[in-house]
Amino acid sequence: PPRVLSGIQPTSESFHLGNYLGAVKQWAIMQDTHDSYFCVVDLHAITLDPPAPEVLRERTRVSVAQLLAAGLDPARCALFAQSHVPEHAQLSWVLECITGFGEAGRMTQFKDKSARSGTDSITVGLFTYPVLMAADILLYQADAVPVGEDQRQHLELTRNLAQRFNSRYGPTFTVPEAFIGKETAKIYDLQDPTVKMSKSLGEAGTINLLDDPAVLAKKIKRAVTDTGTEVRYDPAGKPGISNLLNILAATTDRGVEQVAGEFAGQGYGTLKGAVADAVVAFVEPFAARTRELLADPAEIDRVLAAGAARAREVAANTLAQAYDRVGFLAAA
Ligand code: TYM
Repeated sequence: PPRVLSGIQPTSESFHLGNYLGAVKQWAIMQDTHDSYFCVVDLHAITLDPPAPEVLRERTRVSVAQLLAAGLDPARCALFAQSHVPEHAQLSWVLECITGFGEAGRMTQFKDKSARSGTDSITVGLFTYPVLMAADILLYQADAVPVGEDQRQHLELTRNLAQRFNSRYGPTFTVPEAFIGKETAKIYDLQDPTVKMSKSLGEAGTINLLDDPAVLAKKIKRAVTDTGTEVRYDPAGKPGISNLLNILAATTDRGVEQVAGEFAGQGYGTLKGAVADAVVAFVEPFAARTRELLADPAEIDRVLAAGAARAREVAANTLAQAYDRVGFLAAA
């Protein structure tokens, strides 16, 4: 079967609905059709505002618990922590040496994040972040990489690096395809439906999967909508309403046109009520299952150990090939 790899940062206690609908939900589907590798990218999590060590440890476990609660099954996919597979950092070095300085500097996420923080407080690690991400992907010879729209440019870089390495040193890496959904590739902030839902924005616009359901319902009911009163799917003209329609469609596994048709002629309030109900219906069992899993951290650690062992078999093999191609002597 084709192979899939993707990753998620343990940047906060809770994933948000954008992470779930844009990426994780798709992972759970692909584990049945692909040879699947999914990792919590803890190395990436220290590139900007590094959390205290005990906080990072906790977030990594909470991330794994959420991935399991979302339906990832360690019997059907390798679920692991990036730091448990040293080959990621080892391949990253080689890729850094074929990445142009200007090329890395053109990454819009880097430009945005560094503009917000100022160049004195940002690190070289933030700059090389996308190259480590390329290593994550290329080590597994992934055919497909399910991600949200915001990762498209990083995937383009990954493809370029794979092709560059292959043409310089001989065919080594599979050139991966980004797998980006349509309606769920970018879930927008509830308070500002022109920007993506993200952790770094105000809490009021972010649906955290581990939020209290009453808080979630309130956030949805206070979502910024558009002028007018008509419920219609029109992302350019009605970004707020269209975002809510996408969320409702995705959380109830229906097409967005169908959902829009159902609410045509009804008020914004009715739509918001339905979105709140659908989100809470998903989130309640999800959060309960996450807490249950977190009650047994030793089991989470066992899942990670097994996942890392499976991941390393593939990663070590690819790294050895790449190092050989570059001309590093095999250790005797
Ligand atoms: P991260 O941790 O920021 O986000 C995890 C996944 O969630 C998607 N996503 C969204 N999708 C739709 N709407 C949104 N508002 C939204 N916000 C986030 C992201 O696109 C992502 O797929 N660099 C990556 C992590 C990474 C990775 C990798 C991914 C590291 N190595 C290798 C794929 C393959 C990141 O920071 O994602």
